[in-house]
Amino acid sequence: MNRAKIIATGYYLPSRILTNEDLEKIVDTTDEWITTRTGIKERHIAENDESSSDMGIKAGSMALEKAGLEPEDIDAVICATITPDHFFPSTACLIQKGLNLKNSFAFDVSAACSGFIYALHIAEAILLQDRVKTVLVIAAEKMSSITDWKDRATCVLFGDGAGAAILQKKKGDRGILSSFLGSDGNFGDLLIVPAGGSRTPVTEEIVRGGQHFLHMKGNEVFKVAVQKMVNSALNSLGRAGLEAKDVKLLIPHQANLRIIKAVAKRLKLRDEQVFINVDKVGNMSAATIALGLAEAEEKKIIKSGDIVNLVSFGAGFTWAGMVLRW
Ligand SMILES: CC(C)(COP(=O)(O)OP(=O)(O)OC[C@H]1O[C@@H](n2cnc3c(N)ncnc32)[C@H](O)[C@@H]1OP(=O)(O)O)[C@@H](O)C(=O)NCCC(=O)NCCS
Repeated sequence: MNRAKIIATGYYLPSRILTNEDLEKIVDTTDEWITTRTGIKERHIAENDESSSDMGIKAGSMALEKAGLEPEDIDAVICATITPDHFFPSTACLIQKGLNLKNSFAFDVSAACSGFIYALHIAEAILLQDRVKTVLVIAAEKMSSITDWKDRATCVLFGDGAGAAILQKKKGDRGILSSFLGSDGNFGDLLIVPAGGSRTPVTEEIVRGGQHFLHMKGNEVFKVAVQKMVNSALNSLGRAGLEAKDVKLLIPHQANLRIIKAVAKRLKLRDEQVFINVDKVGNMSAATIALGLAEAEEKKIIKSGDIVNLVSFGAGFTWAGMVLRW
């Protein structure tokens, strides 16, 4: 049987680190509040002139090198991002240019924090149904570019970075085993960048009111996040004929340590079955799970044959679960 298999991963984190102590000097907050409410201690922040495509290019370059592939081997580039360099051209096209991927088509996916799993799902469909042999999936986010640095309720939560995965069609039982994707636009207003699009174009007044920044009703998002992530894990595992006990590593979206712990508890997972790096990188939206997967591979937390469950939740609302045999 043919499966879409991840043959290499890559990642990039900007060198600038913003700690909770640094944030204490910017807004009325404390390390204690941020740590107990979110589990975050620090996050990486891109340079002013460093964009999502710049970070995606670095993550993609690492994945290409690890895969031992040449740029012309890539047939398609899918970039998951909610912080594109521009409305258009797509960030995927800019990454294609930056990596000199002459033979590929390229497009973006907008599914917020679920974007990486959505992009992997699309990559699988393209690989299994088309003549495409190799797909590069990138998730790149400069969350700091849509952060209101005067809003203590949101500015402590997010970070910047990128992750990448290269997929090929392979015979055998390793690769993507199942996916479960969902969304509900009725919750759109709870986590939104209200202005800057066609609904409310940017004006001086909009900028003064900070409507071009990310706005979130955190506690309302929290409740749905736990429920949908548990549901996505169970449904994706069920579609693969597996149960939570079969999972070597759950890589959940890293928005908040309390959400991750609540999800792990409901799935009855042991600590060593759950990947956590939110303390070091914060919430990087779509890039979070891409980085988690690359880190888990690099640190040899997952090895050939292991069952890996990716689970996400984000603006839209969107949610997704995916089961891989590594
Ligand atoms: C954002 C989040 C950490 C806030 O935690 P919370 O326990 O819900 O906190 P609340 O928003 O209810 O705020 C509680 C109090 O802390 C205050 N507060 C908010 N941010 C603060 C900060 N950085 N420092 C100090 N106090 C802060 C609030 O003003 C509020 O004060 P009040 O009670 O006097 O009004 C949490 O709701 C969360 O993680 N939500 C989910 C985010 C998510 O899942 N996103 C997924 C998609 S990206």
